[in-house]
Amino acid sequence: MIRLALGICIRAEGPDAFIEQADRAPFSLPGESGRLRRMVELLATPRPEEVVEQALACEPGASPPSELLHLLCEQGVLVRSPLGPQLIELHGRTLPQRDWPVVDPGYELRRVLRDNAGEVALVLPGPELEGASLATALRARHSARRFTGRVLAPADLGALLGLGAGAAQDPPLPMAPSGPPGHRTYPSAGALYPIEILVHAVRVEGLDPGVYLYQLLGHRLIRFAATEEAIEEAPSVDGMLRTNGVEGASLLVYLFMDFARPSLGKYGEKAYRMALFEAGHLAQNLLLVAAASGLAGVPLCGFDDEQLSLSAGLAFPQEAIVYAIAIGEEQVSGR
Ligand SMILES: Cc1cc2nc3c(=O)[nH]c(=O)nc-3n(C[C@H](O)[C@H](O)[C@H](O)COP(=O)(O)O)c2cc1C
Repeated sequence: MIRLALGICIRAEGPDAFIEQADRAPFSLPGESGRLRRMVELLATPRPEEVVEQALACEPGASPPSELLHLLCEQGVLVRSPLGPQLIELHGRTLPQRDWPVVDPGYELRRVLRDNAGEVALVLPGPELEGASLATALRARHSARRFTGRVLAPADLGALLGLGAGAAQDPPLPMAPSGPPGHRTYPSAGALYPIEILVHAVRVEGLDPGVYLYQLLGHRLIRFAATEEAIEEAPSVDGMLRTNGVEGASLLVYLFMDFARPSLGKYGEKAYRMALFEAGHLAQNLLLVAAASGLAGVPLCGFDDEQLSLSAGLAFPQEAIVYAIAIGEEQVSGR
């Protein structure tokens, strides 16, 4: 299989192709713009090398297609993708190979502190979504990338977090002994809830721009990252949004995982897979509540994991953002 390397820019000028890469010198391929255009179309998804070679054989070109592909691989434009075997190996590593110790979640001091302590920035109003229909929200959900920049009200956040990521039952008693608050609006393997939630407020009434932790028990936001370094890192978030074509979002939700939590030992490396499933459940809830509230969102993985996690105030790599969602009021064209 071959695929296009990340961060490649191929431009056509008349019959010639120009190739730019982040960490290598640019180069040109005279007379090859037609074949490269065809190749880029084909490699929107990785394909077997022979398939690309055959397709390029139908286009005019100076050298045999195999030579062109070989050159592009040497130049780092194409990658002979070993992803399939790598994923099989990664998946295999998440399967139980031995008995894992079940560690009492009671040892999770850092998590317990995050769940309960901290400087309260905003107590959210109880979640309300008058007359919302699940079927309508499901149909309305789509990835929006251009937002109006509307200032969201605490009630918007109350509904988003209270219904999307909050308690389904009052009080949300732990379901695992000494575990985190349970009975939430989304499922979690073993009710251990390894995914935690940060809100990066950009335009939210009553919140200074910055990062806050959502505490489910108090349905409130706690100041999280007020360090100088975090503030200095903030431009990387703008860059990340630009790279993903996102404009005018009112807030970002970051879903992060604390890999150091001992209770995750219950499932061994499979905990990783389960946590990612949980992040997916949570993200879908948030997107549906946004849609039902007349807002929209886009899920994002296109970020530098280390930079984003550090800029949010997390102790990367122990604590890492695995998923982000930009949310706001969608800019409908013509408005
Ligand atoms: C796991 C995941 C990661 C995604 N990452 C990004 C991203 O980094 N940037 C982006 O613009 N869209 C991202 N998306 C959104 C997809 O592009 C979008 O869901 C897809 O085009 C389907 O469109 P729809 O959501 O409107 O149905 C992601 C979606 C998923 C499920």
